[in-house]
Amino acid sequence: MTKDPLVVFTPSGKRGHFPVGTPILTAARQLGVDLDSVCGGRGICSKCQITPSYGEFSKHGVTVADNALSEWNAVEERYDSKRGLPKGRRLGCQATVQGDVVIDVPPESQVHKQVVRKRAEARDIIMNPTVKLYYVEVVEPDMHEPSGDLERLREGLKAQWDIDVPKADPHVLTHLQQALRKGAWKVTVAVHQGHSDSVPSIMQVWPGYYEGSIYGLAVDLGSTTIAAHLCDLQSGEVVASSGLMNPQIRFGEDLMSRVSYSMMNAGGAAEMTAAVRDGMNALFTQIASEAEIDRALIMDAVFVCNPVMHHLFLGIDPFELGQAPFALATSDALRLEARDLELNLHPSARVYLLPCIAGHVGADAAAVALSEAPDKSEDLVLVVDVGTNAEILLGNKSKVLACSSPTGPAFEGAQITSGQRAAPGAIERVEINPITKEPRFRVIGSDLWSDEDGFEETIVTTGITGICGSGIIEAIAEMRIAGIVDASGLIGSAEQVGTPRCISDGRTHSYMMWDGSAKGGPTITVTNPDIRAIQMAKAALYSGARLLMDKFDVATVDRVVLAGAFGAHISPKHAMVLGMIPDCAIEKVTSAGNAAGTGARIALLNSKAREEIEATVRRIIKIETAVEPRFQEHFVNASAIPNSAEPFPILATVVTLPDVSFNTGGETGGDGGRRRRRRG
Ligand code: FES
Repeated sequence: MTKDPLVVFTPSGKRGHFPVGTPILTAARQLGVDLDSVCGGRGICSKCQITPSYGEFSKHGVTVADNALSEWNAVEERYDSKRGLPKGRRLGCQATVQGDVVIDVPPESQVHKQVVRKRAEARDIIMNPTVKLYYVEVVEPDMHEPSGDLERLREGLKAQWDIDVPKADPHVLTHLQQALRKGAWKVTVAVHQGHSDSVPSIMQVWPGYYEGSIYGLAVDLGSTTIAAHLCDLQSGEVVASSGLMNPQIRFGEDLMSRVSYSMMNAGGAAEMTAAVRDGMNALFTQIASEAEIDRALIMDAVFVCNPVMHHLFLGIDPFELGQAPFALATSDALRLEARDLELNLHPSARVYLLPCIAGHVGADAAAVALSEAPDKSEDLVLVVDVGTNAEILLGNKSKVLACSSPTGPAFEGAQITSGQRAAPGAIERVEINPITKEPRFRVIGSDLWSDEDGFEETIVTTGITGICGSGIIEAIAEMRIAGIVDASGLIGSAEQVGTPRCISDGRTHSYMMWDGSAKGGPTITVTNPDIRAIQMAKAALYSGARLLMDKFDVATVDRVVLAGAFGAHISPKHAMVLGMIPDCAIEKVTSAGNAAGTGARIALLNSKAREEIEATVRRIIKIETAVEPRFQEHFVNASAIPNSAEPFPILATVVTLPDVSFNTGGETGGDGGRRRRRRG
């Protein structure tokens, strides 16, 4: 007896024998090969494209003859002439097996396709969105067998797609009958897959085959900015990205001032809720118009935010988050509808908020955990999301600990004499010659260093306006390496250091980075209070990390991941010279960019990832820094540069920090313990 032809699928390697005449789509389904289809094999959607390979394949043990597949048919011809099929492609639902064949499923034809991420080391995003499209042929009504249109649509979904969809969202019924008749009993439906506490539901019905796509939003709601990515829920592609300032800024720059605004003003929380929701709606209108899509096609949205933003967005007064024991109204993930939050998207668009980890460690930290997956790491990784409140995760496969630490706004250039936000004109990179003590720097908007030819011309429009967060970190670290600043954080005098750039500034000294006064420009200095502010911020960050290391019972970590926009710009070497992060090989310190935003995108595109992060967050061990006595001890030690109690042996192999002391009995160095800690 001759065997049926062998069909081998790549890249999966799945293989099986199928009778002559079996459509490739059917063979794929029977073998569990990931081959897409929206029209159910009717030759309409073109999602099932495959590439047959011909010739000798010793690896698979087959020889594929030219006639291994059925001839190009009329459906393929029609599709090709109307829309064009790439060369060598066939429609998997039309081409049938005629002989042994090797079939490649291109990435765009895979249902659970992988979305490409910029960073290779980060986890992959596998498509499995909560809303999917299905093309269905519905039985026409019959007077002898009376049943509703919706019931027959549901039967069609069951018979043709083997899915039970018990209900339709209420607004669907208002257009269902017209759609069925207009499409001659053929429709495309968007089905929400349901989850642990909801059943699948029809969200939308289009007459005939719906050519367009459906969309979702991944939103990172920060205290300063709101950033959104609009994603195609079929391809996973980001089709537009946009952001705006959080309109709540007018109620207070940082989180605590917004909490106090709600405490001091009756109706203050409601005002801030309205402001952030209005801002969201403006952002969504903007992003939809950028992508040239109808906002009503946005069917799903995922939000990540810190606990205060989380509460204000949901319309919950954040009062309790302003005082110990920092109780959240709820820490669970939330599944809502967009209209519950007054968001103008699809009429029954779903909304998902990631779980919060603790009263000061929000859904944004959960999103970072989803993106960076410390719980799946073989080695011990410290993940730091640097902002006005640093959120810190430490862990590996065995366990993950989390805390937040009140770093305050100094890292963003606030409270710094010449500080400013990262914008054109801001000094972002600094080097200081350890012999001459002369600085060179780069400003945002110019690719040249300040001592390179042509630098002046490149900054004509921006000027040199100040120092941003990454610039001040490099400046202070370079000052320490060059012996301009001592371990306690004091700047030496011109005589002590040997440069006229050290100028007397009351009881302390400042370092002149740039003097533009001759041309009417600013003078940019680093003052001792600036160094104090950075010492406080970095000590808070380090002691949070160190506390987690104590709890983990380790003295070192294997690698450090810096998350957040600021984290992306920090130089690992300089961060370590300051003692912001634990001693670690510099090449093991990497930046994750906007990991919270990436986490939101993963949760948007993969519903399984939502369940996964909910389970992970339940396992994360929360540490409250405010009640830990050792935090204060670490804080005092970490106020020195880099640290008064802990050696940095790995750092010492890269840079030698001069043993200088400028303490003349007046001003003292690291006074972290005497300063009040802030909650940002
Ligand atoms: S499955 Fe839709 S065209 Fe083949």
